[in-house]
Amino acid sequence: MMSAEPGATRDFVEEGRKLFAGYCDFMWAASKIDGLPPMGPPEIAFAGRSNVGKSSLLNALTNRKSLARTSHTPGRTQELNFFALGAEPPNERLRMIDMPGYGYAAVAKSKVEAWNKLMRSYLRGRSSLKRVYVLVDGRHGVKDVDREMFKLLDSCAVSYQIILTKLDEVKKSEREPRIAQVLADLAKHPAAYPHVIFTSSQTGEGIPELRASIVEMLAQMGL
Ligand code: GTP
Ligand code: MG
Repeated sequence: MMSAEPGATRDFVEEGRKLFAGYCDFMWAASKIDGLPPMGPPEIAFAGRSNVGKSSLLNALTNRKSLARTSHTPGRTQELNFFALGAEPPNERLRMIDMPGYGYAAVAKSKVEAWNKLMRSYLRGRSSLKRVYVLVDGRHGVKDVDREMFKLLDSCAVSYQIILTKLDEVKKSEREPRIAQVLADLAKHPAAYPHVIFTSSQTGEGIPELRASIVEMLAQMGL
């Protein structure tokens, strides 16, 4: 990623570090579709099963301890939580959305329906949404509920990418096979970006790569 000739290629690791070290703050929570903030800067969203580590990843990316609320209780994040990055709203460079988790068995049916409605309407009508990062627990790999999420994203024609979490709890020998397994699963999903990043919010491994990949994606889109 580093350029041999200074200035020849962009140093996305450094650009990513800078962006995520700058301004960041919570800006908006939406539990209903008519409660979304007006569209503005590019948005990236973090989805995944309850307890997979979405809120923790947002904190690790921004190097804040408690920007997003994390919890041992699955189902903690119930709304779409918007965070402004780069500058204070309305001049933010990027918005990050912490999504409510899915696949938590003890959730009432009415809540599952509310989740589906909120997710669908957000994913369908949001042209400022540039990519959804679907977090998959690195200890377990892709589950059927994740495949349901991939299908939902396929049907909403949203670009998405998989991030494996909790790398610190996965043996070294199991890491490459886990990535290969995810890529094999994704082969059936052409809307999925075929590059997997393995992260740990606890040790910070993979975090600079993820920041770099986000700024590189924005650059590729001319944003
Ligand atoms: P919901 O909001 O309920 O959907 O959960 P979430 O996906 O936001 O998960 P959250 O970040 O709250 O983390 C859930 C649990 O996983 C917490 O106990 C975290 O400490 C733990 N956790 C998150 N990331 C990591 C990681 O990289 N390594 C380890 N070992 N634990 C992690
Ligand atoms: Mg959460």
